[in-house]
Amino acid sequence: ADGFGIHPALLDAALHPMLLAADTESADDEGMRLPFAWNGVSLWATEAATVRVRLSPRHPSPDQDGAVGERGLRVVVTDAMGAPVLTVDSLTMRPADPGQLRAGNGRGADGLFTLDWIPMPGLLDVDASDAMGWVVLGEDSLHLAEEPGLGGRGVVCHPDLEALVAALDDGAPPPAFAVTYLPADGDPAEAGAVARAADGLAAVGEALELVRGWLAEPRLADARLVVVTRGAVSIDGPHGEDSGDGEVNVAAAGLWGLLRSAQAEHPDRFVLLDLHQATDSAAGEVADAVVRAVRADEPQVALRTGRPMVPRLMRARDTGGADEAESEGLTPAGLDPDGTVLITGGTGLLGGLVAEHLVRTWHVKHLVLVSRGGPDAPGAPELAERLSDLGAGVRIAAVDVTDADAVADVVAGIDSAHPLTGVIHAAGLLDDAMVTSQTREQVARVWAAKATAAAHLHTATADLPLRMFVMFSSAAGVVGNAGQAGYAAANAFVDALVAHRRELGLPGLSLAWGLWAQASEMTGHMGRADLTRLRGMKPLSSGRGLALLDAACRFAHPLMVAVDLDPAGVAGVGLPVVLRGLVGGRV
Ligand SMILES: NC(=O)c1ccc[n+]([C@@H]2O[C@H](COP(=O)([O-])OP(=O)(O)OC[C@H]3O[C@@H](n4cnc5c(N)ncnc54)[C@H](OP(=O)(O)O)[C@@H]3O)[C@@H](O)[C@H]2O)c1
Repeated sequence: ADGFGIHPALLDAALHPMLLAADTESADDEGMRLPFAWNGVSLWATEAATVRVRLSPRHPSPDQDGAVGERGLRVVVTDAMGAPVLTVDSLTMRPADPGQLRAGNGRGADGLFTLDWIPMPGLLDVDASDAMGWVVLGEDSLHLAEEPGLGGRGVVCHPDLEALVAALDDGAPPPAFAVTYLPADGDPAEAGAVARAADGLAAVGEALELVRGWLAEPRLADARLVVVTRGAVSIDGPHGEDSGDGEVNVAAAGLWGLLRSAQAEHPDRFVLLDLHQATDSAAGEVADAVVRAVRADEPQVALRTGRPMVPRLMRARDTGGADEAESEGLTPAGLDPDGTVLITGGTGLLGGLVAEHLVRTWHVKHLVLVSRGGPDAPGAPELAERLSDLGAGVRIAAVDVTDADAVADVVAGIDSAHPLTGVIHAAGLLDDAMVTSQTREQVARVWAAKATAAAHLHTATADLPLRMFVMFSSAAGVVGNAGQAGYAAANAFVDALVAHRRELGLPGLSLAWGLWAQASEMTGHMGRADLTRLRGMKPLSSGRGLALLDAACRFAHPLMVAVDLDPAGVAGVGLPVVLRGLVGGRV
């Protein structure tokens, strides 16, 4: 078994007796269970040829609510002499849904990924009272100071980072964890996506200053800043099915993009912890989740019903939507080709490529392309001519999509004979800098063109019967690229806005692109160093990108990441957490 710690065939055979165990279980047995999560896996010896296997029931700890029908097993594999070969503290088994298995047999889409959430692998039992040195920055809304178990010395609350630094000046020891709760809740009287975009920007700006201050203080070099959000991530199922996760808090989502980038730049300095939007978590649960996260090297956690969940990109599975759309004679996104498609950033690289693709391949006949440059943007007249030669009616307009009225006007001005049926938001700009030198102004510029504009598009079209609302997002928001904290934040907001639309029953797809090979205004400045930073993500040729657009539109999932990943290039030190599921040997 060269190259394997334990040969997959041996591991598979070792688990077969669990099928016998299922037969002898009680009458409530819901059919076959399949391995779902592995915890506490230790390989003690390699090259064993003959093994003994002992499987024993393992019940989840009382504070963990398992999913319906879930069972746990402890697995001990020894050699013929009884010496350990492999131990698994807990293998969680869940009933297999035949529908899901059939979907699993569908076409796996190369280059398309969904962001799934799995139970945090690693230690089962952790006691936060082992961990010393907790402080709270800001209001103690999570009631950590009332938790008697935390570190024996009690929890010190400081109104802000400056107060913590002043305490250090007075001789206080640096903490292990500083917890700050950033609910990102602005003025509750202001409803709607545009208000949430403003709240989101304010929260991201505040967090940016906190992160910069945190990194500037050398006495905190061994401490972790724990940023707690509420409902900022949506952990619904891989095919968009509702797992009862509740409403996504769109305003808080940008914080995840910002902090993911900060984590990429400064490993081991930040923990992101998201609580359920509507259900309060006990202070002890929060603290345990933080300690577990640090011990398991899982710096991004969503706590749901007491269970820490962690994000992983998974290869997307085709659920058969393609066949449905094609049998109805519609385009990949189910568009009526006689309607109008609005493309923001339509005179930019991706906007122009997509406009032409929609006309050539989807047979879309009416397009409105907008950008600030509009008809005066470089290449715009040639693009208009090409599209007209292909038989499309095209209008190119100078519109600043950060202006709500301008967006509303362009939507209202669409010819009612060819009503608006689809929106593609491909406007955006970059203003990259490492997080320690990134300013609120830089973030605001990037946020406006991407996030605020997305909110304007959502608001201006909310009452129209759209079939397609595709946001050109970036893998940066999901993976957290170094040097792109503000951009990652804006894209994470857009991803959440689409999740929110889907909750409302509106169409929406956030398509988080990796880098395209052809240089654009936005990406042309990228040098070799930027490209090596892409870690196993190969730049997409234009043909490949457009094929992925078509494929992504056939899926039901609200967020798809479109990247060509080379798992060998991805592996190695400092691997972003969300990529761990794609690399051999990692969960
Ligand atoms: N290319 C890539 O590798 C890549 C990777 C990931 C994600 N993306 C996303 O894909 C989208 C398109 O990128 P691209 O590479 O095609 O960039 P691009 O060529 O620079 O196009 C961006 C477009 O956005 C327009 N724009 C910027 N601010 C605007 C505003 N306030 N109002 C209206 N239009 C505005 C620009 O035109 P004006 O300056 O004339 O307004 C331009 O047409 C972006 O959202 C980007 O985040 C691209």
